[in-house]
Amino acid sequence: MTAADPVPARADAFVFFGATGDLAYKKIFPALQALVRRGELDMPIVGVARAGGSLDALRQRARASIEHAGLFDADAFARLAARLRYVDGDYADPATFARLRRELGSAARPIHYLAIPPSLFGVVVDGLGASGNARDARVIVEKPFGRDLASARALDATLHAVFPERSIFRIDHYLGKDAVQNLLYFRFANAFLEPIWNRHYVNDVQITMAESFGIEGRGAFYDEVGALRDVVQNHLLQVIALLAMDAPTRHDSDAMQSEKLRLFRAIRRLAPADVVRGQFRGYRDEPGVAQTSTIETFAALRLHIDTWRWAGVPFYVRAGKRLPTTVTEVMVHLKAPPLSIFGEALDGPPNHFRFRLSPQVMICVGASVKCTGDAMRGEAVELVVRNDPSTDVSPYERLLAHAIGGDTTMFTRDDCVEAAWRIFDPVLATPPPVLDYAPGSWGPAAAATVLRPGDAWHDPSCAPEERI
Ligand code: BG6
Repeated sequence: MTAADPVPARADAFVFFGATGDLAYKKIFPALQALVRRGELDMPIVGVARAGGSLDALRQRARASIEHAGLFDADAFARLAARLRYVDGDYADPATFARLRRELGSAARPIHYLAIPPSLFGVVVDGLGASGNARDARVIVEKPFGRDLASARALDATLHAVFPERSIFRIDHYLGKDAVQNLLYFRFANAFLEPIWNRHYVNDVQITMAESFGIEGRGAFYDEVGALRDVVQNHLLQVIALLAMDAPTRHDSDAMQSEKLRLFRAIRRLAPADVVRGQFRGYRDEPGVAQTSTIETFAALRLHIDTWRWAGVPFYVRAGKRLPTTVTEVMVHLKAPPLSIFGEALDGPPNHFRFRLSPQVMICVGASVKCTGDAMRGEAVELVVRNDPSTDVSPYERLLAHAIGGDTTMFTRDDCVEAAWRIFDPVLATPPPVLDYAPGSWGPAAAATVLRPGDAWHDPSCAPEERI
């Protein structure tokens, strides 16, 4: 959509496939209740599943899900329950889609959320197309968008056979987080950052997504995917896009996607030597995981962005399960001053910008200030701005509201997804060996080998929370 395009019409029915599944239970029902409460879901809400269930059972499951999330609101839930409909049936059976058509009644612009495994996308999309349910409709798909470039292209072809690109909403829930959107805002709503946001002032950029927990019963899914596909190729690459892209000319979908695409195309394809993969000890004993699995639960990598802005600045990424803490943080290290005029060593902590994305939301500026006293001696401090994450709406609530309204700005376009896979394809095809690491550690020691001599991994668990 560009500024000149007409505002898209709102969807007038919400359909979700996989209504009895895990994603619906964990994320979709709480988001639906929140949207009903905000008055943004005044339309039929149709769950579809092949579970042999009933509308009553779906209402009970919705209630259990929302109560489990600690978000139950009797009034909003009553309105949600009243709007819920249920269609049970095999996704390969045209009768299922005929029943869906009947449940949709006079709705003319449904939005269909495929909260189902990717292996079922094709059959459901075909069913929607053949039954007339795709006319003037939109579709929401969940990551993973394929497992490499070839499968992403095949998935796009499946979707495009029935839906035009502007009607496809690829959800990456990281883009629905306020703290992630604030990277874009902080960079481009202020003028002071731009002059230093480049290779002349930035030494290196680090993104850490650490999780102290393991795979929590998702062994069968995770063992097909691994850390690179689960969080790096999508969530963390989107974070890099917002940190590194040039300014979009407007904040609309076309301008945003085009700048991201330019950036992704400038990121060098990863070579095996750019990546260290790890697997925590005990992973192979998890239910659903192969005894001989070589899937990584940890990845450390360096990316190179071949643009005038970033040439020579490494972007380091680290993500893993069973690490010492749960935190997602960006650290932008600036270069040291060119000269020491106070007789101090210049190898102290460099100036930095630190963006804590979760669980807290903070923007911190690291600088040196003079200690009180006669001597011109300094100490490292941080100026900290904090947001209260509990006031944020959930990423799913935000993204579903945008999809219902037809705004693709916070979703991922087909060419961007394909450009992202292009970066990762070489290491996915020829992965470096997986090294084991102790649960609770920062991954294999070899993670340090992706760093340039003189650089060090930032440890987000010891970052000072507030120094000034
Ligand atoms: C999901 C991954 O997409 O993101 C999970 O599949 C991961 O493995 C999760 O734990 C992290 O999301 P958040 O919002 O909790 O940081």
